[in-house]
Amino acid sequence: MLSPESVLTPLVAAAVEEAFGAEFRGTDPVIRPSQFADVQVNAALALAKRVGMPPREVAARIVEHLDVEGVCSAVEVSGPGFLNLTLDDGWVAAQADALAADPRAGVPTQEAQRVVIDYSAPNVAKEMHVGHLRTTVVGDALARTLEHLGHDVVRQNHIGDWGTPFGMLIEHLLEVGEDSAEARLVETDPNAFYQAARQRYDGDEAFAARARARVVALQGGDEPTLAVWHRLVGLSRLYFNRIYTALDVTLTDDDLAGESTYDADLAAVCDELVEAGLAVESEGALCVFLDGYTGREGRPVPLIVRKSDGGYGYATTDLATVRHRVRTLGAHRMLYVIGVTQSLHLQMVWQTARLAGWLPDDVEVVHVQIGNVLGEDRKILRTRQGAPLRLMALLDEAVAASRALLDERANLDEPTRDVVAPLVAAAAVKYADLSVAHDSEYVFDLERMVAPTGNTGPYLQYAAARLHSIFRSAGLDPDDAAAPVAVTEPAERALALALLELGPTVVEVGRHLKPHRLCAYLFDLAQTFSVFYEQCPVLKADDDTRRSRLTLCAATLRVLTTGLGLLGIRAPERM
Ligand code: ARG
Repeated sequence: MLSPESVLTPLVAAAVEEAFGAEFRGTDPVIRPSQFADVQVNAALALAKRVGMPPREVAARIVEHLDVEGVCSAVEVSGPGFLNLTLDDGWVAAQADALAADPRAGVPTQEAQRVVIDYSAPNVAKEMHVGHLRTTVVGDALARTLEHLGHDVVRQNHIGDWGTPFGMLIEHLLEVGEDSAEARLVETDPNAFYQAARQRYDGDEAFAARARARVVALQGGDEPTLAVWHRLVGLSRLYFNRIYTALDVTLTDDDLAGESTYDADLAAVCDELVEAGLAVESEGALCVFLDGYTGREGRPVPLIVRKSDGGYGYATTDLATVRHRVRTLGAHRMLYVIGVTQSLHLQMVWQTARLAGWLPDDVEVVHVQIGNVLGEDRKILRTRQGAPLRLMALLDEAVAASRALLDERANLDEPTRDVVAPLVAAAAVKYADLSVAHDSEYVFDLERMVAPTGNTGPYLQYAAARLHSIFRSAGLDPDDAAAPVAVTEPAERALALALLELGPTVVEVGRHLKPHRLCAYLFDLAQTFSVFYEQCPVLKADDDTRRSRLTLCAATLRVLTTGLGLLGIRAPERM
């Protein structure tokens, strides 16, 4: 099936060309939704200057050449020179039929690109914070969406698993015993483990000396040290995976490509930068100075690639990352789903990589900036009821709140509530992250997130469950609802038209990387469906109408489930 915009764009463009000549080939007709008809064409206003005619006359000329037979039932010039187009009911119905028959619900398959997505990236032996949660959720939605569009997505979980703190963490793990209850904190309450290690480090000089020696051993590839390090990373992985499972995130151990992965490349990265004349010694450190990056008093801001003690840092690792993603992973497009605060770091890394020849111009690289999540006090959310924030505890709270909601409604039996509550909780938390622009801040408000009304995950899940219940009452499998659609009522027509927009919306999310556009679309669709369901009886309608409306319901269910699936949200059949 086709969306109105995709059909009308070439038709209007052809009319413009015929009316004003070949030099107007490819003019964007600027098709938008209209308040007065189905769509409006705005092109005449922009063209008026170029052709030296009043816009209304330009519009009239376009109409003379416009052939929308079978697509539109009315074309009108209005206002200062808009064209208002009304779609033909038969055309709308035919598109709805095609949509209902399409297992992809109108989402096209694009020419495959290799897209590398860097997201989640928590740190070993540290609590994941709500910022990590947000990159995880947004990154996962983008990964699912791009994959569904046909791209070859490579997930990269760039966990923080390397660097100086590991000396202290390894020593602490050895001290408490690898199989002790304290060691298991890494899996259940990592910050408690980290804090304990830190305290030992700060309070005991002998421990601190051992920790420093341990860093050297780790970086020198000492086998026994590496074995303890592996154990530590393994425990953290269990923690990450528990969060990923609770949230139904697609990341697996295969996607892990932490900082340690690049350790062996760092010396070469520095050498190549020196050879290229890009890196220079400054106060003992090896630095890259880029044009246009100056700090206070116009002083150049360096990108430090080797510290004066010979150690490498976050920037060096990220340079190696870019190099690897292009050279080895063959990326056409690279997305870094990372906090807004790391923007300068990324810009400098990419600029350096460009100059070094590691990042060709035809590889698109995008920082999908993740905004802060705030507490009720509008400060970055770090604590809850005075205690440091534990993500797992937060998710448990969300499950409890979802469970309370299901208990209140009491239309499910106990065992089903047990299964559904975690799905509702995940939907609530994820949708809250996804439904606001990824680079804006928002206040974490659990009560609002789990609410069954408003622009929330659970609201959309309820909409899908209601559709399932219609089919249960009808005794029909939604996949078997294939009777032709007729659009006679305005609410039917509005629903059919709304359904056609999933494809264009998903394409847009793939291009502009804004999952909140898909959320907004699905929320609108659910509301459009509600109006339809209020105004157009389905099960009580006469035979033909009932069958037509069931097809519309089946298509709505598929669009909703597909859209939610791309966001990483499951829609239970009963709620
Ligand atoms: N581990 C980092 C943090 O917690 C995020 C890493 C993001 N990815 C990257 N390639 N720098 O802030």
